[in-house]
Amino acid sequence: MTSDPHGGRRFRVFARKRSAPSRARRRLGAAVRMIAALAMAGGVYAGFTPNAAAEDDRTLSSSAAEGKALFDNSCITCHGRDAQGVTDRGPSLIGVGSAAVEFQVGTGRMPMTRQEAQAEKKPPQFDEAQTKQIGQYIQEIGGGPQLPSGELSDNLATKPEALARGGELFRVNCSSCHGFGGGGGALSSGKYAPGLHTATEEQIYAAMLTGPQNMPVFGDNELSPDEKREVITYVTQQLQQDKDPGGIFNLGRYGPVTEGLAIFVIGITILVFVALWIAGKS
Ligand code: HEC
Ligand code: HEC
Repeated sequence: MTSDPHGGRRFRVFARKRSAPSRARRRLGAAVRMIAALAMAGGVYAGFTPNAAAEDDRTLSSSAAEGKALFDNSCITCHGRDAQGVTDRGPSLIGVGSAAVEFQVGTGRMPMTRQEAQAEKKPPQFDEAQTKQIGQYIQEIGGGPQLPSGELSDNLATKPEALARGGELFRVNCSSCHGFGGGGGALSSGKYAPGLHTATEEQIYAAMLTGPQNMPVFGDNELSPDEKREVITYVTQQLQQDKDPGGIFNLGRYGPVTEGLAIFVIGITILVFVALWIAGKS
């Protein structure tokens, strides 16, 4: 940062008060005063910055301060100082809430390794405690949606109807993108809705709360916390328990037909290359 609003203002006030004997001298004087003002602005800025930073740290809880250290190490290059965002590299995280961090960092999508249409799910780089600390930091500086405390799914022994209700809500709200079996599906421009077979309860809740990428946000007006728990119950206790419908390889869980098709396409491709190779030899 090079400009300081206070320094600038001060300079203007000064410049008006001074009387000026001749044009050239006035110009020279203005230049000298400008330099002096800039130097002063620099001094004022240097004088204030450490204090401002210290104040900033003092208002953070200790867990958020730990999170800030992790953030400054791994996220600042794309999301900027104080998570304000960096044009072309990463959005501001002000207001996304700890839920977004728990989703993005917990599924390994963040820290992103390279620019791509959609951040890949990968083994998380931070453990649960660290993820919560980064979430706490983002929460304390910007607010936003948070995961509720307590159980995120229903106990079928005490609430058996949760499964059917969750299934209904899933088919209405989620299956258009994630498929009826939760196997996932392609969306436009290289994006896709991932399969839901490895998502944890926290991740499903956080995905609904924050609507990553092309997924809509399911706020508490769209799906109440009770309904969200029913959806999670259905996903984790029904979809994730289902046996694969067939085939040896798990190609999106569409069953043996998909696998037959895949083998056909791969086989034909190989045959074409073999034919080309033979033709090239002769
Ligand atoms: C290489 C650049 C890069 C790095 C490093 C990176 N991010 Fe991101 N991040 C992005 C981009 C680009 C997006 C938006 C695209 C997306 O959501 O996939 C994003 C999105 C996010 C979101 C979702 C914001 C929302 O609106 O819901 C969160 C939360 C987030 N990042 C947290 C982090 C955290 C925490 C770290 C460090 C552990 C991190 N990111 C590191 C580039 C980066
Ligand atoms: C309009 C399409 C769309 C709808 C509708 C939708 N999602 Fe998503 N969902 C996505 C996309 C796209 C992603 C990937 C986001 C990313 O990679 O950042 C996603 C990601 C997820 C993930 C993360 C999976 C993982 O393993 O990381 C979960 C969980 C999820 N969605 C659950 C749901 C639930 C539950 C519903 C219904 C209440 C739903 N989604 C409705 C498009 C959708």
